[in-house]
Amino acid sequence: MDRGESLVFDRAVEYYDRTRSLSSASMDKLIPLIRRDAGDGPCLEIGVGTGRIALPLQAGGTAMVGLDLSQPMMRRLVHNAGGRLPFPLVAADASSLPFADDSFAAALIVHVLHLIPEWRRALEELVRVVRPAGALVIDIGRETKGPFRDLLAQFAAAANIPETHRGINDAGELDAALGELGAELTQTHVIEEVRRAGYDKTIEALEAGTYSITWAADEAARHRAGAHTRRWAEARYGPLDRRYDYRLEIALRTYRLSGF
Ligand SMILES: C[S@@+](CC[C@H](N)C(=O)[O-])C[C@H]1O[C@@H](n2cnc3c(N)ncnc32)[C@H](O)[C@@H]1O
Repeated sequence: MDRGESLVFDRAVEYYDRTRSLSSASMDKLIPLIRRDAGDGPCLEIGVGTGRIALPLQAGGTAMVGLDLSQPMMRRLVHNAGGRLPFPLVAADASSLPFADDSFAAALIVHVLHLIPEWRRALEELVRVVRPAGALVIDIGRETKGPFRDLLAQFAAAANIPETHRGINDAGELDAALGELGAELTQTHVIEEVRRAGYDKTIEALEAGTYSITWAADEAARHRAGAHTRRWAEARYGPLDRRYDYRLEIALRTYRLSGF
């Protein structure tokens, strides 16, 4: 897949929920925050994935519609909902939404825009399908810092792949682009959890292709890069079974569309 395409998550289905789920304490903070902006809906979630956020939102009373490029991710969403369709699901691309203008009271897009080279087009589409004075709730996904970032930088250089995502990586750019489309930033919230990881486990995950940023490298290149990263990390940090702290976070930005 070249850098010009969005990243479809078909290959992540088997481990996505295990590696990305937030604690129930974080979810208890997150869902009311989104619900405050999305209200009773209808709320469109772009890149709805396995329903990590849409399912609890729907359960809390917001009428959801989910859209994703990946049918396997949405099949998992249905499985996570107990095997029945919890709300309408649409297989489509964020940059060309199959909805009429002003169809939704709100839209949600979490950890997706960093995957889409045409993220500006996706924003235009969001603004088109959300009603005047409606809300956009967005988390572009943050660049990580600390050991993970350093391990990824070594790995990416050795595998000859970019170490930044193919879509948007900067919240300031998002604010400016949405400002041009008549949407004003009204709230920001960060929910974070500190977790522990092992250096060895992180390198194994990079090698295994767990993170979408590593999908640009084939298996052989990932193994070569893993061996290089292991040598580098041992020299830099010592024994690789030691652990380090990292932050898992959702950084929400809410924008209000103009009323006209
Ligand atoms: C990192 S997952 C996030 C899933 C969910 N939003 C969450 O927070 O758990 C990214 C999702 O966006 C989807 N995706 C990527 N590019 C897309 C596009 N251009 N249009 C629609 N969905 C897209 C992927 O298939 C994947 O399911």
